[in-house]
Amino acid sequence: MCGIIGYSGREQAAPILLDGLERMEYRGYDSAGVAIRSETKGLQVKKSKGRLKVLSDMIHGGADLEGTLGIGHTRWATHGEPSDVNAHPHVSESGNIALVHNGIIENYMEIKEHLIKLGVKFTSDTDSEVVAQLLEFHYRECHNMLEAVGRVLRRIEGSYAFGIICSDYPDALIAARKDSPLILGYGKGCNFIASDVTAVIKYTREVAYMDDGEIAMVTPEGIDVFDSELVPVEKAHRTVDWDVSAAEKGGYPHFMLKEIMEQPDAIRRTVSPRIREGRVVLDDVKLTPEYVKNISRIFVIACGSSYHVGMVSKYNWEKLLRRPVEVVLASEFRYCDPLVDEHSLVVVISQSGETLDTMAAMREAKRRGGRTLAIVNVVGSSIAREADDVLYTWAGPEIAVATTKAYSTQLVLMDLVGLYLGDLLGTVSAEGYAAIVEGIQRLPEQMSASLKDTEDIKYFASRYFNHDSIFFIGRNLDYAMGMEGSLKLKEISYIHSEAYASGELKHGTISLIEPGTLVVALGSYMPLFDKAMSNVVEVKARGAEVMALTAASRREKMAKTADSVIAVPDTLAMLQPSLGVVPLQLFAYYVALQRGCDIDKPRNLAKSVTVE
Ligand code: AGP
Repeated sequence: MCGIIGYSGREQAAPILLDGLERMEYRGYDSAGVAIRSETKGLQVKKSKGRLKVLSDMIHGGADLEGTLGIGHTRWATHGEPSDVNAHPHVSESGNIALVHNGIIENYMEIKEHLIKLGVKFTSDTDSEVVAQLLEFHYRECHNMLEAVGRVLRRIEGSYAFGIICSDYPDALIAARKDSPLILGYGKGCNFIASDVTAVIKYTREVAYMDDGEIAMVTPEGIDVFDSELVPVEKAHRTVDWDVSAAEKGGYPHFMLKEIMEQPDAIRRTVSPRIREGRVVLDDVKLTPEYVKNISRIFVIACGSSYHVGMVSKYNWEKLLRRPVEVVLASEFRYCDPLVDEHSLVVVISQSGETLDTMAAMREAKRRGGRTLAIVNVVGSSIAREADDVLYTWAGPEIAVATTKAYSTQLVLMDLVGLYLGDLLGTVSAEGYAAIVEGIQRLPEQMSASLKDTEDIKYFASRYFNHDSIFFIGRNLDYAMGMEGSLKLKEISYIHSEAYASGELKHGTISLIEPGTLVVALGSYMPLFDKAMSNVVEVKARGAEVMALTAASRREKMAKTADSVIAVPDTLAMLQPSLGVVPLQLFAYYVALQRGCDIDKPRNLAKSVTVE
């Protein structure tokens, strides 16, 4: 959710913090703030409701704030409405300590009541301010910030990444984490903390990932890390293998469009190293053939678009593996007493690798004896580190809140894993295996071909953008793909939309179809094409306007019934969603553009959902 950054160095901190916050604004954007410490002015805090631009204008790009040590925050509100006072940093009553926080402190009320009884006065409604005040309380007792932070961490419950500065510490900032991401960035004569590598990549590619319970002291000379007992810890450094241009728009008007266009390359990166001489090679997974043979059940756990990848994979994996695959929303999994045991393979899908619901569900699955395999994009993220096995999607940084290239790479990676497991189980024929490998290898080139001409989709978007309710219908893989098409549309264009299994329409929902209702009919799953056609006829008979999506070989047939048709290249039925989802992403994008929406940062959303 929120993005935090901290800098300790020799340059002016404020412009560096603003730059880092801008790169992390996708994490939350309802208010922003910075705190800077200077020799002459002590701690100065500036914060404001609204986008980062409001803050940046207020402090003239940082020029107003002098000082080489600071922390910054961009917020996605949980406790307390978006407002100037609820914006971070939060400051202790004396004004000596400033703190930024990402996460939720669950027992904040009880601590707040205790501090109020001691006479502490609060200015905001947030759980985060409680930590700043509690910190001051302990600091007054022990006069040592590290010790005080350690005491606070023992008292609070919940999730957090903190950045803290104190006026008594001229060049040190303190950081701590539990269940919220935090990286350490090692620069030359300067060091950083941040929620995400994108915030510091302009200054350094050398990073380390903080672990739960760790506390770090960051100065221009170095970063010392301690465990919760304040015993020093050695951190392994990693070098980030992409550069700043990967996290910039590169001439595109929006990150989302750039990321849609990057999909063929992203898929190539996911697939190429994993196919050798026609065989799927997953060097990173340690699943033995014996273990795989004993799998009795597979769970796929995820949220949002990652869950939709799971829905597509369910259809494909059950065919390939002949094992039951249950796709469960991560937010439900923990509370449904899941039937996981040591013969359960639990596949966890997450772009960010930080989604709290998904992480909590994964822990629950492990606790019940399941073996976890994570499909993750962000290297070093919490889910990646905690899973028994991890496969990275290698999509590169995804900045737009609406996922596109991460979804596509997850999908194709799930196809590879399905094939790999099917081979170990002996449930895939030799010809089937070879055809799927060949089909997967052709996807990037087929996708590039359809991305070359987007004129039709722009036209359809201009024709349909005024609709206020849209149905996506389809069967089997088309239904699963429709869920993603519908989510894309609603999250960025704010048009109400539903994805429905076509066969289910007549059991109630068809009553909502009236003259002019837009139905996006998905008919790209060839085994059920004729049934898809019948459903188009059915809704047309009730006056619906139908925009259909099908494979190129059926375009003409579909055009006889539907009002408009989008065609994608033909491929194997199981791979068709990889090609079909692209025009749905573009349709959502151009509809949102027509409606003047803030495409990369849709209202109320954030890229990485680290609260329950
Ligand atoms: C999709 O466009 C979303 N923004 C959202 O549904 C996302 O897929 C979901 O929050 C899960 O995120 P994750 O993959 O990072 O776990």
